Amino acid sequence: MANLQTFFIGLKLRNPLIAASSGLTNSIEDIVEFDKYGVGAIVLKSLFEEEIRIEMEKDLAKMNKESFIYPETMDFYDGYDEVDDLLSSYLKLIADAKKSVSVPIIASINCVTAEKWPYYASNLQDAGADALELNIFSLPSDFSHTPEKDEKLYFDIVEAIMKQVNIPVVLKISYYSSNLASLVYRLSKTGISGMTLFNRFYSPDIDIHSFEVQPSYVYSSPKDLPISLRWIALMAGRVECDLAASTGVHDGEAFIKQILAGADAVQVASAFYKYGKEHALKMLTDLEAYMDEHNFKTISDFKAKMSYARADNPAAFERAQFMKHFAGK
Ligand SMILES: Cc1cc2nc3c(=O)[nH]c(=O)nc-3n(C[C@H](O)[C@H](O)[C@H](O)COP(=O)(O)O)c2cc1C
Repeated sequence: MANLQTFFIGLKLRNPLIAASSGLTNSIEDIVEFDKYGVGAIVLKSLFEEEIRIEMEKDLAKMNKESFIYPETMDFYDGYDEVDDLLSSYLKLIADAKKSVSVPIIASINCVTAEKWPYYASNLQDAGADALELNIFSLPSDFSHTPEKDEKLYFDIVEAIMKQVNIPVVLKISYYSSNLASLVYRLSKTGISGMTLFNRFYSPDIDIHSFEVQPSYVYSSPKDLPISLRWIALMAGRVECDLAASTGVHDGEAFIKQILAGADAVQVASAFYKYGKEHALKMLTDLEAYMDEHNFKTISDFKAKMSYARADNPAAFERAQFMKHFAGK
């Protein structure tokens, strides 16, 4: 019988299926259910940098209140009483999760700057998180920025975080970059343990009658798979950190494809929204059946078999034109 156990960012996982950060990983009940349905690890819903900042400002306000230095600021800070200690709740979620399940718990922060808040990352580590995923979305759309300026954000965040924690750090990025391969390669050498390719953020759509910009699809579809599949295949075995695939994995077959492409782990969110958390069981059963069918005893027997570095026809991952369609007709 196939052995699904594997290693990701130095953590031993019972299998490479990870419940990605989403609204489904935000409560202890959900975490316990994911554990029951067999996932290998769970990434908690992201704590947003803005939430950490509010906590920091509350601390500051408390200090000021005690010393009566800036009493006029208190009116402003009092408004934050409604914010129910988000950071404290998050730390409690980590601690409760660690008590309730044995699978690794990966805390997540959604970051947009490298300023000040990284000091708080150590709190997540102290609460018991096994690793930290940094969800960074940078849209390089400013004409006045050079590619170097846009990329600096990633390196600044990594540098600031690595000073604060010694648990494994994973960087989750988007594919918006002027030189993605080079960026992934250089980030992989910063000391991070892994990268997640790719995150999924708000994308705009246009209502042609109301002339309003509105959110497009929140969930991915299986048609979104090829982008992450291509980049996992191109990067696997050529960068200096582990890789988790994310986006468009909706079934066992897509899960297997990502491992063949070279993913050390595979993160899933939308399919769990669509089919329920129990879908994890089906995906794992499919993986096991596939391994038995091909006589693969362990994950490493076939991981990266179809990656750019090892495939018989690596150029297929770099092909940019549909020759058959564009040249032949
Ligand atoms: C409703 C929803 C909420 C999400 N929230 C987060 C989040 O807080 N942090 C994060 O890093 N990713 C978040 N994601 C992105 C997922 O973790 C995942 O990277 C993305 O959806 C692509 O995977 P999928 O195709 O399996 O959905 C969210 C996705 C969805 C659908």
